[in-house]
Amino acid sequence: MRALAGTFVVFDGPDGSGKSTQFRRFADAARAAGIEVVEVREPGGTPIGEKMRAILLDPANAEMTVRTEMLLYMASRAQLYEQRIAPAMASGAMVLADRFVSSTLAYQGTAGGIDEDDIVAVGRVATGNHVPDLTVVFDVATEVALRRLSPLLDRMERKGHEFHARVRAGYLAQSRRWPERYAVVDSSTGPDEVTASLMRTVQSWCAARRGAPRAHAAPPAT
Ligand code: TMP
Repeated sequence: MRALAGTFVVFDGPDGSGKSTQFRRFADAARAAGIEVVEVREPGGTPIGEKMRAILLDPANAEMTVRTEMLLYMASRAQLYEQRIAPAMASGAMVLADRFVSSTLAYQGTAGGIDEDDIVAVGRVATGNHVPDLTVVFDVATEVALRRLSPLLDRMERKGHEFHARVRAGYLAQSRRWPERYAVVDSSTGPDEVTASLMRTVQSWCAARRGAPRAHAAPPAT
């Protein structure tokens, strides 16, 4: 855990992946280990961003185009980055973000049809080119994820099974494209098993980052 001090970690995944429960537990565990943690969530996380969140998730805005959606998510992110993330990083805290550019790549990119490299380029503008050290993707079958949602669906959650299956595929594609800064955690099981798997995954990532053998690696043959 201590190795996470000063890093920028994102928890992400499809709606219903259980990431928010794990986010809470992980932030508590990091603080218990003596790390200063700054938690942020997207869209929102600043007074201006929360107003954009309300527009983005309001089911009354059904006519919103995917490009508008993408730019609004990025605008919320730009405000969050400058107002909260950059100062936290400068102070040496660990930043733990509930969603980031990875969400835009999955929802407006893979699922929404906007070119991935265009999103990466706009993301660079929004974040001053700052890429998270680690993005943890919580992965679960779409049928299971959608069953977990409360019946009061927001505008994004209403997009249906096929859209959400593409969102899931988008996250998995990102983890294949950038394996050194993505990790996938199976979140189809109960919350305690997911937490155990998350802790092992993060430990393994920290070990790999230090150049030490990965936690799950076989001992060297002698
Ligand atoms: P939340 O429910 O985790 O707070 O996320 C809000 C919704 O916004 C969720 O359905 C995912 C979606 N979203 C995008 O479509 N693109 C983005 O860039 C972000 C940050 C969220």
